[in-house]
Amino acid sequence: MRGVILAGGAGTRLFPLSQVASKQLQPVYDKPMIYYPLETLMSSGIKDICLISSPHDLPIFQRVLGNGHQWGIELSYEVQPEPGGIAQAVIIGESFVRQEPFALVLGDNIFYGPTGLKPLISTFGGGAVIWGYPVKDPQRYGVIEIDSSGSVMSIEEKPDDPKSDLVVPGLYVYDGTAVSRAKGLTPSNRGELEITDLNLSFLNDGQLSAVELGQDVTWMDSGTHESLLESSAFVAAIEKEHGHKVACLEEVAYKMGFISQTELAQTIEKMPKSPYRTYCERSILG
Ligand code: G1P
Repeated sequence: MRGVILAGGAGTRLFPLSQVASKQLQPVYDKPMIYYPLETLMSSGIKDICLISSPHDLPIFQRVLGNGHQWGIELSYEVQPEPGGIAQAVIIGESFVRQEPFALVLGDNIFYGPTGLKPLISTFGGGAVIWGYPVKDPQRYGVIEIDSSGSVMSIEEKPDDPKSDLVVPGLYVYDGTAVSRAKGLTPSNRGELEITDLNLSFLNDGQLSAVELGQDVTWMDSGTHESLLESSAFVAAIEKEHGHKVACLEEVAYKMGFISQTELAQTIEKMPKSPYRTYCERSILG
């Protein structure tokens, strides 16, 4: 399965930080935010990844991440000329996804723990799969209502009166029909092609299922100053407590078998002397 990361958007909520770098390049403790959604895809076995961003920010992503070969993956890039919504990214990724199933992850979403994406990839039979995560402030997100058998009954984007506390994190798996469905959507009141409308298209055809994230998973959307700080504090606490790094892409690549020990050593060799390099040398190379 291929992977698409959307790292676009105006990032206005992070002004004036967003003047320095796009939201998805802001630090989340000791790494750029984009490392975390990359980890979500890579740790599920996805090696062909297309990153979509604005014309202004795309060159910076290319400089920071390169072609992905240092992690044994193939990274390609596409431009989203204007922030036209998450579902627009599906259309922009058309030639990359080639009508095949793909996973879409938002560049400001951080998952810590087993999302279930990896086992899903091997059993995915078509349609769309979304996730559900309980939060205290569901009106900020897409909200789903599921029945006792786990079937999705409704999805609403940022409802004033949420029908449940289960929200839809920025991780989605779609079959090849997603592109033509996205092309048929009309922009919402905020002028964007909404991912919730794409999901509704699958729901209306009985093609949508949801996976409820367990208590062993933490999900964070890091698009505000407060959530950015919380994400950094969370990652710092985990790294301190467990002594391992979250979303160390060299570690993920090596453990997934994407790169050999020799290739890992070569990648580390190119890093400046830093605590990150020391971690890679001690914890992965041993
Ligand atoms: C978007 C989606 C929303 C989803 C959220 C997850 O919201 O529209 O359904 O719950 O991402 O991060 P936005 O970031 O555009 O406010």
